[in-house]
Amino acid sequence: MSPLSFAVSIFYLYLCGSVFFDTAHWFMHKWAKSPWRFLRWLSYCHQFHHLYYNRSLNFNKKYLWQNSLIALPLEAVAKILGSILGWLLAQNLVSYEDIEASPLIAVSALEFVRTVVVIFMDGRDSNHITYETVPKDKSWLFVGPEYHALHHVHPDRYMGSMVKLFDWITGTAFSIRNKRVVMTGGTGAFGRAIEKQLLAEGVKDVQKLRFGTDWTHEDFSNTTSRFAGADILILAHGTKGMDAMDANCNSSIALIEHFLHQQKVQTPQSRKTLPEIWYVGSEIEIHPAWGIEEMQRYSASKRSFLPYARALYDSSNVTYRHIVPAAFQSRMGGAIVSPDWAARVAMWWIHRGACYVPVTYTGLAYSNFLKFLLWVSPDLSSGSESRGLNRAIAE
Ligand SMILES: *[C@@H]1O[C@H](CO)[C@@H](O)[C@H](O)[C@H]1NC(C)=O
Ligand SMILES: *[C@@H]1O[C@H](CO)[C@@H](O)[C@H](O)[C@H]1NC(C)=O
Ligand SMILES: *[C@@H]1O[C@H](CO)[C@@H](O)[C@H](O)[C@H]1NC(C)=O
Ligand SMILES: *[C@@H]1O[C@H](CO)[C@@H](O)[C@H](O)[C@H]1NC(C)=O
Repeated sequence: MSPLSFAVSIFYLYLCGSVFFDTAHWFMHKWAKSPWRFLRWLSYCHQFHHLYYNRSLNFNKKYLWQNSLIALPLEAVAKILGSILGWLLAQNLVSYEDIEASPLIAVSALEFVRTVVVIFMDGRDSNHITYETVPKDKSWLFVGPEYHALHHVHPDRYMGSMVKLFDWITGTAFSIRNKRVVMTGGTGAFGRAIEKQLLAEGVKDVQKLRFGTDWTHEDFSNTTSRFAGADILILAHGTKGMDAMDANCNSSIALIEHFLHQQKVQTPQSRKTLPEIWYVGSEIEIHPAWGIEEMQRYSASKRSFLPYARALYDSSNVTYRHIVPAAFQSRMGGAIVSPDWAARVAMWWIHRGACYVPVTYTGLAYSNFLKFLLWVSPDLSSGSESRGLNRAIAE
């Protein structure tokens, strides 16, 4: 076997072991309520790992031995089993020649040695780090300590151990359970549809900010108490009217900065996850407004929000999701799809960890991703200099 094919085989078998483990791991959490005693027992063995490195992302020494001698060996056995299955699969697919066993032996030995080393490190490997607040996960593909910590906060989600493949398939790269949401545009078509989705997923509450009573373009002071303890701000308001720039850009920025500022001054330190902001953009960010005055106003307002949006997308202090829907049925205009469809598609992407969320039947939102990523230059100060509010995030 050439060194290259040996290396490729090792990688393939390691990947198989890890994805098989992710699947088994998901089941181990499900099996806590299984009617079969053996499966409940497996689930119980794995629980020691979560009792040791627990939901508050601290190590509880009481469970050190159970983690080292029960949970970690169980994980290693599952990974080696996965590699064996991957090897058998390869042998069946490439049946015209015999596949050597040496890479399989090497991967199994590697996993064995890795587990022994981790046991000697008291289970504190590169994926298990204590955090006050879990930092932003910069990788879309590979699993690091930031991603794995979220699994310990939400044990039925974020199953990936090496790559996020399993979570993409099952939509487990996101959890909103017990989170508190504050939303603008909550009485609009998209706002109502997204609220329905969130309630079905066990969100703690959805508070709607009403324009005119909770906020105006000049006064955001009434939002202060609403932002206390909130985890996610969803900006689903929007207009094509004369105040389009104020509503879709300037006030959106002011609301975000007020929200982030309140996160700093009102929120107890114990919060494990970063605050989140979702903004409902539009495909008009990429297509022309065809000389229609109302559309030009709308387009200009949506586009001038982009540099700020792009800066939040990069910011390590907030998880920002830019939702880009094609037209859907609403007071803003007719279309071939319903707001429920748009909300379902948005949640489909978000469950797979997406921070740019295309909700489209035209395909424009996909090409807009390249523009958003490569063309728009991040600028936190855009649009809000006059209000002097941008210090809230920079501070
Ligand atoms: C996690 O472990 C730490 C350290 O032992 C302990 O203080 C804390 O109460 C535990 N948290 C949970 C949620 O069990
Ligand atoms: C804030 O709330 C008070 C009391 O409900 C109301 O009188 C006032 O008009 C509100 N202000 C704004 C700017 O919405
Ligand atoms: C994030 O917050 C830290 C400290 O609060 C600050 O130093 C940093 O500049 C902020 N980063 C961004 C991108 O806003
Ligand atoms: C929005 O903010 C920009 C930049 O601060 C400002 O020039 C513009 O006048 C504001 N737009 C409106 C409609 O207030």
